[in-house]
Amino acid sequence: MKPNRRPLIAGNWKMNLNSSTAEKLAIEVAAQADKFDLDILLCPPSIYLERVGKAINTSTIHLGAQDCHGNPNGAHTGDISPPMLRDVGCEYTIVGHSERRADHVETNQIVAAKAESAWAAGITSIICVGETDDERSSGAALNSVSAQIHSSVPDGADAKNTVIAYEPIWAIGSGKTPTTTEVAQMHGAIRGFLKQLVGEKSAQGIRIIYGGSLKANNARPLMALADVDGGLIGGASLTALEFIAIAESCL
Ligand code: 13P
Repeated sequence: MKPNRRPLIAGNWKMNLNSSTAEKLAIEVAAQADKFDLDILLCPPSIYLERVGKAINTSTIHLGAQDCHGNPNGAHTGDISPPMLRDVGCEYTIVGHSERRADHVETNQIVAAKAESAWAAGITSIICVGETDDERSSGAALNSVSAQIHSSVPDGADAKNTVIAYEPIWAIGSGKTPTTTEVAQMHGAIRGFLKQLVGEKSAQGIRIIYGGSLKANNARPLMALADVDGGLIGGASLTALEFIAIAESCL
């Protein structure tokens, strides 16, 4: 696929499953994952991280969280810090998912603080951006995503500490996806915004993955696009067969 960027296929399980179904799904994915020459990542609910981590321990799969706090410790009831995530084996964390931006009023500044806090614990941040339906239909999608990238991606982002996930909000869980032309245009634009922010070399190394109603039957043409370096998958990551089929479409 892309010469210098290893594809990343990430499952965001969101607030689904229970301890035994999460473990079962992880074991099913792990049984098949090693045959792929790409990074496979599972992001279970935080309460199941340890159990899923144990289930994938002997496989090549990576473990990630769905969110983290912007501080390493302190009086933040109910929150989980990056050092705690690292302690249970996380190598990645999603930050700034649109569901968190909406449900928890997370601003770009909060997202940037979370991303940096994750870096400090040695965790790669998957920073999510994406436009609303209204922004897309009024022609404001590029401006919206540009603003999010410029304010959510901290200085110092590079190929090792950062992944960008482009997730148009209207495509999440809706069964609708942008056309390949729209995705190619947005991913190319994001690469350009990253160049402005972190320079050509780092920008070329940062993976930009697509998310939003990604399924086995629509993934292949999207994954083949020049600036698409993998996928962030919600609903379809809850079935091992479907998730693995999406991974296959990257090869
Ligand atoms: P769906 O794949 O269910 O549309 O969710 C995408 C998403 O939000 C992944 O983070």
